[in-house]
Amino acid sequence: MTTRILTGITTTGTPHLGNYAGAIRPAIVASRAADADSFYFLADYHALIKCDDPLRIQRSRLEIAATWLASGLDTDRVTFYRQSDIPEITELTWLLTCVAAKGLLNRAHAYKASVDKNVEQGEDPDAGVTMGLFSYPVLMAADILMFNAHQVPVGRDQIQHVEMARDIGQRFNHLFGKGKEFFVMPQALIEESVATLPGLDGRKMSKSYDNTIPLFGSSKQLKAAVSSIVTDSRAPGEAKDPDNSHLFTLYQAFSTAAQKAEFRADLLGGLAWGEAKQRLFELLDNELGESRERYHALIERPADLEDILLAGAAKARKIATPFLGELREAVGLRSFRSDLQSTQSTKKKAVKGARFVSFREDDGSFRFRLLAADGEQLLLSKNFADGKTAGQVSKRLQDGSVLDVRVDGNGFAVWLDDEAVGQSPQFADTAACEQAVAQLRETLAPQPE
Ligand code: TRP
Repeated sequence: MTTRILTGITTTGTPHLGNYAGAIRPAIVASRAADADSFYFLADYHALIKCDDPLRIQRSRLEIAATWLASGLDTDRVTFYRQSDIPEITELTWLLTCVAAKGLLNRAHAYKASVDKNVEQGEDPDAGVTMGLFSYPVLMAADILMFNAHQVPVGRDQIQHVEMARDIGQRFNHLFGKGKEFFVMPQALIEESVATLPGLDGRKMSKSYDNTIPLFGSSKQLKAAVSSIVTDSRAPGEAKDPDNSHLFTLYQAFSTAAQKAEFRADLLGGLAWGEAKQRLFELLDNELGESRERYHALIERPADLEDILLAGAAKARKIATPFLGELREAVGLRSFRSDLQSTQSTKKKAVKGARFVSFREDDGSFRFRLLAADGEQLLLSKNFADGKTAGQVSKRLQDGSVLDVRVDGNGFAVWLDDEAVGQSPQFADTAACEQAVAQLRETLAPQPE
């Protein structure tokens, strides 16, 4: 059995080295496992919750898409798409919103943090809180449940959201599944072994600390960033302590075991910080050089990127569209046509109410209609020269013998003695037509009293 892995990347910024080591690289490695079926997407609807700068959203989507592809994501193996290209996700969000308990969402960390801050400052508790922020976990639940993901690799701050997705999905299953589990229960996947990179100042690398190292900047920018890494003041020749040096932590996130051992030994042996930075720069420049070139080539061909993402969306919608169809059906958003049919096939009384109605055409010929209990026409007979023949034919149709029904397109004809004696209307599709045939057979079957 394959494991379906799904994760989203909010498109509000430009990926840095920390994102690469902490999320992009491990996700790409995971997607190569033989039993992995990975869904990676740009969470651009989530980005709108946090950012109202259209240009920034636009740039970030492009940069993140190019980063993942340049870093080696194989779109033949992985379904890679933009959330906003899948209208089924927003539709599912509403279906889930209607079963999600408000009390559950009140407890979401991000929302609670905003409320706590407001209260602390003597503001209205919901000041500045949009419905987007409040409903964020429902949108995320739709992302996950839409594709029935088993595993959701996320940071610790997102665990609660995955738990809420389970909660909401379970409630939907319970209310509408009638024993069927529409949604698989997802698990948050926290990769302990994945590197959390320190930034220039030693705190976690993060845009909010302004301590990041650019991922695909020029060599020159990379060099400048590396040389601004904060170190202690030990002079060249003095022994350095690798275990208390975030420069060393950065180095080991990209080096082989042998390189790491050598670097450690050299630091202990008094390698100058300037020299150490040069070695880190060379390591990174080497590791990132090729993907950096691919990145810039991709960024310069936005139309190609668009095509790749649209192909990814088409692949995702092959799953999403029929699944959402089932869910709509489950909650009662059904075609009037199938609605009617299902009520009639389950209620014997309605079947009994079906009737033949005969009438005369202007040219003097005789015909009859077979109407279902609700008046829907199932069959219109051919023209008969006299009323007696018309009556005999309608009687024979009710004598309980097997009907000769011949389907033609989305309609059908009923045959007697090598002649089509009645014709159905045209139905919307084959399914509706098949249902009408079933209904006709049931209507004309002998009724047990
Ligand atoms: N909320 C996630 C984050 O900020 C991004 C995200 C959106 C996501 N939808 C998702 C992650 C679905 C995993 C699954 O990191």
